[in-house]
Amino acid sequence: MCGIIGVTARDRDVVPLVLEGLVRLEYRGYDSVGVAVNAGGSIIVRKGAGKIADVRVRVGLDRLSGSTAIGHTRWATHGPPTDGNAHPHIDCDGMVAVVHNGVIRNYASLREELSGRHRLRSETDTELIAHLIEEGLRRGLDPLEALARALARLEGSYALAILVAGEPDRIYFARMRSPLILGLGEGVNAVASDIPALLHITRRVVTLDDGEFGWISPDDVAVYKLGPGGSYTRVPQAEVASRLKTVEWSVEKASKGGYPHFMIKEIYEQPQALTDTYNGLLDDPNLGRAAGLVASAERLYVVGAGTSYHAGLVFSYYAARVSGVPPIPLIASEFKVYENSVGAGDVVVAVSQSGETYDTLEAVRSYKERGARVVGVTNVVGSALDRESHVTIYIRAGPEIGVAATKTFTSQIMALQLLALAAAAATGRMDPGEARAEARGLSRASSVIADAIRDSEPVAKLLATRERGWRSLYILGRGLGYPIAREGALKVKEIAYLHAEAYPAGESKHGPIALVEDGFPVFLVATSDSPEIAGNALEMAARGARVMVVKPRDMSLELPQAPNIAVLEVPGGGILMEPYALTPFFQLLAYYKAVQSGYDPDKPRNLAKTVTVE
Ligand code: G6P
Repeated sequence: MCGIIGVTARDRDVVPLVLEGLVRLEYRGYDSVGVAVNAGGSIIVRKGAGKIADVRVRVGLDRLSGSTAIGHTRWATHGPPTDGNAHPHIDCDGMVAVVHNGVIRNYASLREELSGRHRLRSETDTELIAHLIEEGLRRGLDPLEALARALARLEGSYALAILVAGEPDRIYFARMRSPLILGLGEGVNAVASDIPALLHITRRVVTLDDGEFGWISPDDVAVYKLGPGGSYTRVPQAEVASRLKTVEWSVEKASKGGYPHFMIKEIYEQPQALTDTYNGLLDDPNLGRAAGLVASAERLYVVGAGTSYHAGLVFSYYAARVSGVPPIPLIASEFKVYENSVGAGDVVVAVSQSGETYDTLEAVRSYKERGARVVGVTNVVGSALDRESHVTIYIRAGPEIGVAATKTFTSQIMALQLLALAAAAATGRMDPGEARAEARGLSRASSVIADAIRDSEPVAKLLATRERGWRSLYILGRGLGYPIAREGALKVKEIAYLHAEAYPAGESKHGPIALVEDGFPVFLVATSDSPEIAGNALEMAARGARVMVVKPRDMSLELPQAPNIAVLEVPGGGILMEPYALTPFFQLLAYYKAVQSGYDPDKPRNLAKTVTVE
């Protein structure tokens, strides 16, 4: 998740406007920063790795000037955060400059094709777009046509802002599955990833749709719709005008995208994050390499802390089911338990959002020393885990600001499901075609989670405001439902400061049920692998518990009508979709309970986003 901006104005230096926009976009990524100015016959680019405040001074961004410029703040997805990988990226002759947010899925094949004909300077997917446009311009196409042809070659997601030398008053743009808006002012027009980046320029914005592209000049805008094979049609000006909205938000509110907290914003970002994870990984050669390691493992460990451990439990579930290589799940700080039995031939899948968690790194280093190979699963390119791993799988969820992990949990699950399926093909337990078809089916996760958020939110809100007397609660699950229950209980504890205990539902009668009395809240996470959970719901209800079963809509469950048994139905779609369907309810319950109690959900007491101590 990067941030992009482009501004073009009549007779005015726009570089300060671009820099101000980049400061406001920095929450979208802070690995590197860059600006390109269209100086008429040529394009001037300045960029570098690091935060904007440092890069500004180091490469002299403030000394640039011009009336048409684009800028970028990067969250690395292809290639580490270096000066060379910073955006904007240019073509061979420096006539085209591109900034990009998104992931080009057919990156590997495009790179192979273009590397024979072009001088590639970076490891990014973005640079390839500049060269594709260059090829069109060399064939004599006008820039709009060249852009359309280039877009037709791209698979995946993109929001683009582009400068072309010789077109000093224009910024070209395009959008596919990554956010992009236009800002229309008086003698100044702009394009950016989100509204906060534009509020110092104009409050009049137009949201673009997927498949739209075009250009802005200081006084004009043209939007086109991309068709098959690079064909396109113009979107009528009246339609563009009808989408114009005036934003009333304050800048402070806008930096959270209109949401009161980052946590709820990030819960709502899950459909986009899952799209980015999926697009980034489906054709990523690292996935195949990691699957090869997993498939050949003598013993397979999966290690992580907190939420990442729970994602590891979900992986263990799928890997044991489909790949025939059952992993040993391990809480990172407990790595010593198995230390002495680790040897060459073993593989560790290490899961860490930040890639910097001390316990996880210690586990990785210890097992590596004993000969194990490491597959890292992380959100942060260039993190310590990335560097320690033999193969890294990036989850590409974008920066997560809220301390409690939300969107990175579901993106980790997506990455790990893809790994389990690829490993199943590699071990021969699944036909490769079938495994690939299942992996393609994961593209539905984005809409499943969007629907799950919609179905869960009113109930979570209602419970949070109505049930003020809760002191303690259980969340029970069986099979796949158990790790989802654990993550739910963790969210409720860390954000709402309410004691929540997750337990395997079948095991709950061997102890925890002793605490149950009239009105005790018990949630059950029903997954399609475990219809037996109905019996556990009844055992709890019979002792007076207030039972709420959260279940996929397409799962039939035999539950009696009783005043103390409620059912929340969320989307179905099979066992691979169920983590996306069942997780949001507990994220939202924790969030609304915290807000209703007056706690700050973004900064829970005693907790840190990244724990770098023992
Ligand atoms: C901290 C955070 C948790 C996170 C855990 C592991 O405890 O508060 O939200 O799940 O660390 O972090 P990692 O970056 O390794 O996923």
